[in-house]
Amino acid sequence: MSYRSEYQRSIEQPARFWAEQANALPWYKFPQDILTQDNEGNYHWFEDGEMNTAYMAVDYHVDNGRGNQPAIIYDSPVTNAKSVLTYKQLQQQVALFAGVLKARGVTKGDRVVVYMPMINEAVIAMLAVARLGAIHSVVFGGFAPHELAVRIEDAAPKVIVTASCGIEVAKVIEYKPLVDEAIALSAHKPDCCIVLQRPQARAEMHSTIDVDWTTAMADARPAGCVAVKGTDPLYILYTSGTTGKPKGVVRENGGHAVALKYSMSAVYNMQPGDVFWAASDVGWVVGHSYIVYGPLLHGCTTVIYEGKPVRTPDAGAFWRMVEEYKVKALFAAPTAFRAIRKEDPQASELNKYDISSLSTIFMAGERLDPPTYLWTAEKTAKSIVDHWWQTETGWAICANPMGIEEMPAKPGSSTFPTPGFNVKILDPRGNELPPGHQGAVAIKLPMPPGCLATIWGDFERFKSGYLKDFPGYYCSGDGGYIDDDGYVYIMGRTDDVINVAGHRLSTGEMEEIIAAHDAIAECTVIGVHCPLKGQTPVGLVLLKDGVAIDEDTLQAELIAMVRKEIGPIACFNRAVVVPRLPKTRSGKILRKLLRQIAANQEVAVPSTIDDPGSVAEIEAIMQAQGLVNDIATETQ
Ligand code: COA
Ligand code: AMP
Repeated sequence: MSYRSEYQRSIEQPARFWAEQANALPWYKFPQDILTQDNEGNYHWFEDGEMNTAYMAVDYHVDNGRGNQPAIIYDSPVTNAKSVLTYKQLQQQVALFAGVLKARGVTKGDRVVVYMPMINEAVIAMLAVARLGAIHSVVFGGFAPHELAVRIEDAAPKVIVTASCGIEVAKVIEYKPLVDEAIALSAHKPDCCIVLQRPQARAEMHSTIDVDWTTAMADARPAGCVAVKGTDPLYILYTSGTTGKPKGVVRENGGHAVALKYSMSAVYNMQPGDVFWAASDVGWVVGHSYIVYGPLLHGCTTVIYEGKPVRTPDAGAFWRMVEEYKVKALFAAPTAFRAIRKEDPQASELNKYDISSLSTIFMAGERLDPPTYLWTAEKTAKSIVDHWWQTETGWAICANPMGIEEMPAKPGSSTFPTPGFNVKILDPRGNELPPGHQGAVAIKLPMPPGCLATIWGDFERFKSGYLKDFPGYYCSGDGGYIDDDGYVYIMGRTDDVINVAGHRLSTGEMEEIIAAHDAIAECTVIGVHCPLKGQTPVGLVLLKDGVAIDEDTLQAELIAMVRKEIGPIACFNRAVVVPRLPKTRSGKILRKLLRQIAANQEVAVPSTIDDPGSVAEIEAIMQAQGLVNDIATETQ
């Protein structure tokens, strides 16, 4: 089968194409309404289908001969633990935990927040929620109580599931006090908080809503799968937008299952029974799609790795995992490979392991820079696939479709649009740009199955955030171009979102936090190039008149504020005092211009600038402070 014909079919006959893909899944009732449009023109996939995602991902495989196949391999270099859970064992655990939730009143449509480290119980909790037809919202463990509280308040969960601690290399991070603080901060209070006690730190169970996981499981009766509609939500996953309030991306059951099942073969070239390892975290979309649902829906074995690419214990960790578990496809962020390369530039650790099981390394979360691409390709002699996607889409918008036809790769490009995604480059007025011209990367509607249906509780924000700029298109927020051969190049965000070690963060949110400091009159946060993490945030701050504060003290206080509010994961480690910031005459800080200076791009000074002299001044400061990328990048 050729990529071109598959892609063409998906664009010309979407309903027929996706009905065929939906056939690969065990529905309770196969949908008749494949693709429908409501009165407002919004698209829906598989609306009248009946199904249960946990059934499709677990029970179905047990019923069809995979009961004894490993479903989850757990490997934790930080606790020296390893284990294997078969599909049968996973089914038992999921059904029991669903019973625990059911006994606490969780029913179809209720929300359950999961705040857990990388352990099997995180996956068991997610699947148990799905089994009941309820909606999970997993929050990444690196987020601070304030972030967790914002999500609790928005999702209004009946239950929170957590663990006593997570382990970060050598640090034990106690989760329970963070959860307690978040619940105290949130106006919404859950009925119950289920805590898995880990031996590295035991949580204090002082609240009347606290329930011990192990005790509850011992008393539980297994619960069955609840049928849901194709358009019923499976989960809410919060992601950073341009403001301080994160966006709750809503994923529906039907489209999600169909898209992920299809992607496992079309993009990742996996067969049921193969071992797939996404070295991410269940708190991110990569973890949702390719640690949990994608591999399990496809009958593969997935890997839960509680460790880092380096320091747990060394830069050979990934290669050791590949050898030990015969991993066929490895998926990680480019940052992980930059970290490995930094510690082991000759890849001498690689020589210690047999990685012959591995056929492809997939990377996403941020742009795969050509040097990292070339290093990984040369050292491993494997196919390297850069693929572009977002929390919103849930699966790859562009990729080298390894299971359809491997295309020659071009470093710096995420290859071609995945079947179903009609990718266009638009100018600010919404006109399609010719090859080689940079513009806004947009996707012509309808998007394929699996993409976000709305923002939780805020359909207007969904429309204004994604559909308003270019009517008839989804606006991705990324800039880029398509070359003469049709290869797509994603060059970076066009808004105030940055990518730090493959983690998506809002500079707007950091600005709101540091602006609260007494000494600060005005501030902005920009992403500057970082050779390891891709980008790191830096605050440019203006002091209030008459304020005298030592710059180091101020910086330390601002770092502490961001760590407290967002968490260590923000990697906010630098603040620079500046005499003024370039602004428009109406007083808006010219963030895009600052982004362009930092990225060493051609600077476009808008005619609305208040004082043109402020540009040269800030440019000189940023140069002197080392905030400008040494390498010039293409304009956006
Ligand atoms: N819970 C609590 N804290 C966490 C955390 C978690 N789950 N994950 C990270 N943190 C903390 C870290 O301990 C660190 O804290 P510190 O500032 O007190 O040291 C901070 O957040 C930053 O973490 P990280 O970005 O992971 O930096 P690092 O220096 O510890 O590690 C890398 C560097 C490159 C090894 C690491 O960033 C990495 O593995 N990157 C790959 C990213 C990835 O997989 N992304 C998923 C998207 S696909
Ligand atoms: P997230 O929603 O956290 O997955 O982040 C999505 C954003 O990460 C995208 O909008 C891009 O800016 C960036 N991104 C992810 N994958 C890639 C990639 N392969 N190439 C370029 N940018 C990427």
